[in-house]
Amino acid sequence: MSNKEQTLSIIKPDAVERNLDNQIKKIFLSNGFKIINEKKIKIEKSEAEKFYKVHETKPFYDDLCSYLSSGPILVMVLEKENAVLDNRELMGATNPKEASEGTIRKKFGLSIDKNSVHGSDSIENAKIEIDFFFKD
Ligand code: CMP
Repeated sequence: MSNKEQTLSIIKPDAVERNLDNQIKKIFLSNGFKIINEKKIKIEKSEAEKFYKVHETKPFYDDLCSYLSSGPILVMVLEKENAVLDNRELMGATNPKEASEGTIRKKFGLSIDKNSVHGSDSIENAKIEIDFFFKD
């Protein structure tokens, strides 16, 4: 039985700036994800603050929001069975230094801030995050 799920993926400014977006998209496709929707945008800091609101009490919140709004990003809706967890596994640990071999963050991440990709952390947040970027 097919049990398709969707998750939101963002290719962050550090990766777009290094022209890694096509390479990262190929990794998603070769791991069974379909790219259902995508757009390259640059967001305002106020939008980044809304997107990352769950982190508003964290000490890194301000830097995080400045960073996500610092340059173009590629936002995508990815679909496959078990998309949320499979994407998190494929991305690797938040801190690239701790990410396993073969993961996107291990391969491309520069630091915990410039970690190349974001992915929804739950099915519930995936719906919220997809709506945030793609509901018109
Ligand atoms: P992301 O998956 O986009 O979700 C929140 C981001 O905050 C995370 O990736 C990191 O890039 C960033 N961040 C910066 N410092 C930390 C930290 N100490 N712990 C977790 N995330 C952090």
